[in-house]
Amino acid sequence: MRNGLKIATIGGGSSYTPELIEGFIKRHHELPVSEIWLVDVEEGKEKLDIVGNLAKRMVEKAGVPIAVHLTLDRREALRDADFVTTQFRVGGLAARMKDEAIPLKYDVIGQETNGPGGLFKALRTIPVILDICKEMEELCPQAWLINFTNPAGIVTEAVLRYSPVKKVIGLCNGPIGITMGIADQLGVEPERVRIDFAGLNHMSYGLKTTLDGKDISERVIAMLAGWERDGITAKNIADVGWVPEFVEALGVIPCGYHRYYYQTSTMLAKIKEETERSGTRAEVVKRLEDELFELYQDPDLNVKPKQLERRGGAYYSEAAVQLIHSIHTDKRDIQVVNTRNNGAIASIPDDSAVEVSCIITKEGPRPLTMGDLPVPVRGLVQQIKSFERVTIDAAVTGDYRTALLAMTINPLVHSDTVAKLILDEMLEAHRAHLPQFFGVS
Ligand code: G6P
Repeated sequence: MRNGLKIATIGGGSSYTPELIEGFIKRHHELPVSEIWLVDVEEGKEKLDIVGNLAKRMVEKAGVPIAVHLTLDRREALRDADFVTTQFRVGGLAARMKDEAIPLKYDVIGQETNGPGGLFKALRTIPVILDICKEMEELCPQAWLINFTNPAGIVTEAVLRYSPVKKVIGLCNGPIGITMGIADQLGVEPERVRIDFAGLNHMSYGLKTTLDGKDISERVIAMLAGWERDGITAKNIADVGWVPEFVEALGVIPCGYHRYYYQTSTMLAKIKEETERSGTRAEVVKRLEDELFELYQDPDLNVKPKQLERRGGAYYSEAAVQLIHSIHTDKRDIQVVNTRNNGAIASIPDDSAVEVSCIITKEGPRPLTMGDLPVPVRGLVQQIKSFERVTIDAAVTGDYRTALLAMTINPLVHSDTVAKLILDEMLEAHRAHLPQFFGVS
């Protein structure tokens, strides 16, 4: 009998792993994790060894009794796990590069989560996550699946609708990053600030902000409108200022990803310029990763290096570890996660995943009832939800027309002819990772 929790992390060779390990170390006094299994695929073995050995050194330095295991055997990692976290990338950064570069040739933002890139990332990822769920049902039916793999909302909804695993939560560092950023600008500790979020992953809005329970929404919106750069945007998105009157009229806090929809032409120009200068974001991240893995190999390194902060996933460990902690202890605090809507947000199907503030219990997240979203933002959220649902159907069926439909209804793609051109080129480029469209090679 184990006397602590077993965590299985799929995509354990990710450069983000030290972030997660740091979180478990910091909370060890209140979250008794005894085993962390980092699992990856054959192609990721070298990275798994490097980052896994760093994880072992971090745990040893901290003096906490956590056994870190490295394995390519997913079944062994999953057996009797209490929590399974997923942070894998099918096809690696090379696939992300195509997701970002191909649409750009047609003057369309690739956007690896909500755009055409997100569609293809979902097509590659969903069959894999559904396989993982089958194994979970057999090997750890009691476990919670905490999904970080992007597009996190879409992947979570695919699990909810197409797998036997119902204990699934999709997690993003976005809402926590916004809360931290706003607390910082207000000059107060983040625990005193609560923002009620509602919407979809990378498409959720901060509807109401309170400081020590007092409504300060208007002050925050005014602050946001006045900033040249909003200071709450993740590192992977250009922090272009908003038109102040627009943010004031919107009346809710947009997230960084909303720029792609409300500032499409500015963002497209920025991305083109950046791509010309330094390559796609995937290429920038690849160089940063090479640098990180170089550092991770240093046998004297036994803490998370500073450079990791240049990635978009800041506070990733904070979000994951505090969620696991609250489920384990039935803490009933409020956190923002992706979960089954169940009527929390009106005009979104009950069985869809939404990103919403929830009470976290040992039975899982209980979404706060949000009612209808304000009219000015409702339409975009619904349109993206339609895109997400059709994307999931395309990923499960491997049906060309369904994929074309998803591509065409995405608001970043402006016509059916362009949608078809992008779709055809991307299907060909990702052939090796799309068995549902091309069969297993
Ligand atoms: C943000 C998002 C994550 C995303 C990351 C990308 O933080 O919330 O979902 O994975 O940025 O960052 P990267 O450094 O990979 O471009």
